Amino acid sequence: MNKNLKRLINILNDGQYHSGSSLGNKLNITRTAVWKFINQLKDYGLSIDTIKTKGYCLQQPLILLNARNIAPPCPIKIFDSITSTNDYVKTVKKSPFICLAEQQTAGRGRLGRNWYSPFGLNIYLSCLWDFNKDISELSGLSLITGLATIKTLTAYTKDLKIKWPNDILYKDKKLAGILVEINAETHGSSQAIIGIGLNVNMPGAINRAPTWISLMDIVKKPQDRNKLTSKLINQLWNYLNKFEKHGLKSFLSEWEKYDYLKNKKIKLMHGEKSIGGEACGINDQGHLLVKHRNGNVVAYSSGDTSIMGDRKGRPYD
Ligand code: BTN
Repeated sequence: MNKNLKRLINILNDGQYHSGSSLGNKLNITRTAVWKFINQLKDYGLSIDTIKTKGYCLQQPLILLNARNIAPPCPIKIFDSITSTNDYVKTVKKSPFICLAEQQTAGRGRLGRNWYSPFGLNIYLSCLWDFNKDISELSGLSLITGLATIKTLTAYTKDLKIKWPNDILYKDKKLAGILVEINAETHGSSQAIIGIGLNVNMPGAINRAPTWISLMDIVKKPQDRNKLTSKLINQLWNYLNKFEKHGLKSFLSEWEKYDYLKNKKIKLMHGEKSIGGEACGINDQGHLLVKHRNGNVVAYSSGDTSIMGDRKGRPYD
């Protein structure tokens, strides 16, 4: 990011009004240049109040992501803005590698959905990780990424569940989502792109969509994204290393503790088909077990789940 833009943000972070000329003096740039930077921040979606007689005021402090404060265990790249961190990581040659962005312009969710990714508020993280495993052994990867995310978040709140395969929920509302993409390589190895989107300081996430929530909504104050990202990466590292050595089996009891669907009547959209039944946990490949009316239990490897009888319909997108 442009150094002057960074300095401008630092000045505005005091929450006071600053006139264009005083900002220009402090940064040693013209008022027009200040105005352009202010417009850039507004284009990023930041809320800047402008009063002719007083100047500009940033409504919510903005602490940018900083690799030094995150101190990752591998190379990292932080973008101000990118289409999708998952897409960037796909172009990287050497694993492991972490990519973060302040904003995604084409953030992707599961099943072709968009992932809302406003500037400077949340965490958009992708990790490139090579496995000496066949693609068939990685079916639990997105589940353990969800567990690593929950483990990180339990320092902030205990009321968390995972909705299979990997939606992190706080009291039925979506706090984080995971998008894992895997490329099969030669000789039984695979390359995984592990994407995590976590709503951190998004104000009014509840208003934007009543079924979304951010960490700030839960703990009632903005959170330090650098600290949180650092914790998240560390947990992800622990979970990926354990998964590499011991597979999904070693996480099954942890999954059970956070399983949102367990013993609930659910609807599973599996391709074009809508399947009803009772969720009864996962098998050791991470497939969802559904008990049908005739008593048969069937394992499903993919799909979109919702709780039946929820009058509001699907809990969220
Ligand atoms: C979902 O719940 O549907 C999955 C959301 C995954 C979003 C993350 S944000 C970082 C990474 N980059 C993307 O484009 N998507 C994932």
